[in-house]
Amino acid sequence: MNSKDDFFVIKAEEDGVNVIGLTRGTDTRFHHSEKLDKGEVMIAQFTEHTSAVKVRGKAVIQTSHGELRTEE
Ligand code: TRP
Repeated sequence: MNSKDDFFVIKAEEDGVNVIGLTRGTDTRFHHSEKLDKGEVMIAQFTEHTSAVKVRGKAVIQTSHGELRTEE
C-alpha cells in the first residue's frame, strides 16, 4: 500500500491525550500537537511533513500493522 493512502486511527481513552507530529527530514522535531479528550478520535496520515507520531496518554491506536494501546 502506498503510504500516502494509508492512515491510522487514535482514540483517546482519557481526557488530555496528546498526539504529537514529528517532522520528516534531517531534523526531527515536534511540529504539531493535538489534544484529544476521552472518546475523541483522530484519523491521520504520514505526510511529506510528518514522519513520526508520538502519543502521550491512554489511547487505542489502530494501524495497518495492528492495534495497540498505550499504558496509563
Ligand atoms: N500538517 C501536517 C502534515 O501534513 C498534519 C499532520 C499529518 C499531522 N499527519 C499528522 C499532525 C499526524 C499530527 C499527527 O504533515
